[in-house]
Amino acid sequence: MKIFSAEFIISAARPEQLPVDARPQIAFAGRSNVGKSSLINALLHRKGLVKTSSTPGKTQLINYFLINEQFYFVDLPGYGYAKAPRSVVDQWAPMIEGYLKGSPHLLTVILLFDIRREPDARDRRMVEWLTHYQIPLVAVLTKTDKVKRQEMAKAQKLAAAVLEGNAVPILTSATSGLGMKELWSEIKRILP
Ligand code: GTP
Ligand code: MG
Repeated sequence: MKIFSAEFIISAARPEQLPVDARPQIAFAGRSNVGKSSLINALLHRKGLVKTSSTPGKTQLINYFLINEQFYFVDLPGYGYAKAPRSVVDQWAPMIEGYLKGSPHLLTVILLFDIRREPDARDRRMVEWLTHYQIPLVAVLTKTDKVKRQEMAKAQKLAAAVLEGNAVPILTSATSGLGMKELWSEIKRILP
């Protein structure tokens, strides 16, 4: 995909704060620190477009980016950061569920799993919501540059176990660029 424009539009606490716009949305979800913002930057070849951080819990709002003036990438707040203030920890679930429920132009959620961590209850809840709201998902394993080949297959199996019949996760790395082509072809298939 040729990217000729990628611009930050708004940080919203609720989906109603986004100006009404019928352009399709593709959202990125997953645990805090899993690599959502880095993956968006890697897909767009824009290093600093989305703020990344080694401190988990950086993205606590819903951030909308308009790509090629045609569709949105939506960076969702990460979940499961134990050290975040209680008020923030309690916010992610209603925020994300509210977004999933209230976004008729959401086409797909790209669900990220850190290749070094086992999926947990929150990942399962995310998959359940997506099934419930009938939102298709594309699963992705991030940070593959951090592990050996054998561990990749093992992690794919662990993630597949919570994915309830969805396709096996795509192996990616924002650092090495692995999987970016494959993920773009999925995204192109999904876009109208
Ligand atoms: P929150 O916004 O806090 O939910 O985090 P996030 O999911 O957006 O993660 P972010 O992209 O900020 O990345 C978290 C940390 O992981 C940063 O230190 C990144 O540099 C690192 N990281 C992300 N992707 C990769 C990757 O593919 N390989 C390696 N080695 N590090 C990565
Ligand atoms: Mg982030």
